Amino acid sequence: MSKLSHAQWSSKMAFILAATGSAVGLGNIWRFSYMVGDSGGAAFVLIYLACVALVGLPILVAEWLIGRRGQENPINSMVDLARKNGRLPAWALVGASGVLAAFLILSFYSVIGGWSLSYTLGSVTGAFTGQDADGVSAIFTGLLGNPLALTLWHTAFMALVVWIVARGVTKGLEGAVRTLMPALVVLMLVLVGYGMTTGHFGEALAFMFSPDWGAVTGEVVLAAMGQAFFTLSLGMGIMMAYGSYLGEDVNLIGTARTVIILDTAIALLAGLAIFPIVFANGLSPGEGPGLIFVTLPLAFGNMTGGMILGLMFFLLLTFAALTSAISLLEPVVELMEERTPLSRVSATLVGGVAVWALGIAALMSFNVWDDFLILGLNVFDLLDTFTSKFLLPLTGLGAILFVAWRLDRDSVAAELNLSGGQATLWHLVSRFVAPVGVILVFVSSL
Ligand code: PFF
Ligand code: NA
Repeated sequence: MSKLSHAQWSSKMAFILAATGSAVGLGNIWRFSYMVGDSGGAAFVLIYLACVALVGLPILVAEWLIGRRGQENPINSMVDLARKNGRLPAWALVGASGVLAAFLILSFYSVIGGWSLSYTLGSVTGAFTGQDADGVSAIFTGLLGNPLALTLWHTAFMALVVWIVARGVTKGLEGAVRTLMPALVVLMLVLVGYGMTTGHFGEALAFMFSPDWGAVTGEVVLAAMGQAFFTLSLGMGIMMAYGSYLGEDVNLIGTARTVIILDTAIALLAGLAIFPIVFANGLSPGEGPGLIFVTLPLAFGNMTGGMILGLMFFLLLTFAALTSAISLLEPVVELMEERTPLSRVSATLVGGVAVWALGIAALMSFNVWDDFLILGLNVFDLLDTFTSKFLLPLTGLGAILFVAWRLDRDSVAAELNLSGGQATLWHLVSRFVAPVGVILVFVSSL
């Protein structure tokens, strides 16, 4: 008996760790802070929090539920469930667009993973020690202007991802997530503490939490919702795939709450660490994708023990990025393994090389292709915008609509351990609040 319950506990724990490993990554630190800065601060943060709670939570639960019931890759799960419920396999499109999104996202995610690797090395060599704002900006601009260096770092990051996925050891990383994630949180707290010593912490707090609602546009709302999907790894079939490994005993809503609180806490800490440094050094919050790469080296370069702390931070960031990137490549590989004669290793290589090649196009938009624009966006921004503001919300919408409108209401409530008023609340949120929220955001951005 005790043996059995231990086995269940460890599988539940393994699941939480895998989901957290996927969720916590560059999205929380790199992307969250630069989106907040770009979108003018607090209004974005508060809308983002509302999106996480009202849209993110129900969709996360819906994806897990589909995966657990379907027990297969996202596309097959959707098709089988749809057939069982007498529906057309058109629902399979939801799974397919998720896999496409994962492929596109990984291509530019790996480029930023490469930046993180490069800054890990920069911390060791003391490149940031004693630098001022101009110095760190010059280092970053130098990296962006060097396609060869960007390619090497992107290649190194992607090679790590491919190596881990090909060996099929992704499960073995869960133990590492368990120890390294708390370490990342501690380092973030150290950085927030440093932010407090700059004398600009209050300014950062106001920037993040005291909104100017007048400045809110449909574009800001769409960006906030896109960030909620991106950071929770939603709308990509990834959480669905994880759901297929879930035991019946796992409480989906409670687990979703745990993962979301952790993910959100790390993002908010990142903001509280970065914006004091921005204001203290007269930098612009709207710096763009380079925001953490010009602010954090300033902090590490000018605090005692900064070299070792910087090294640890960028190593942990790279690790967090790796566990997320692995979860992006898995579904692509899994699909190829099941649908083509390729072995796991070949499937990983083929998928990895395709992602890598697209990543080269993405990184060239910072230099040689910086004036090659499609719809006014360079390749990097196009990949990011098309996925986070369009593909992910649409796929997530498909998942929640399917669970709320196509599956049997009572059996879903029973599966989520809900009854009475709570069941009604879930019903209303999953049928109306979350889908209407996503649709309204789309409409308002037009
Ligand atoms: N959620 C990850 C992050 O915040 O960095 C990024 C990500 C991983 C997005 C996996 C999507 C995904 F499927
Ligand atoms: Na995240």
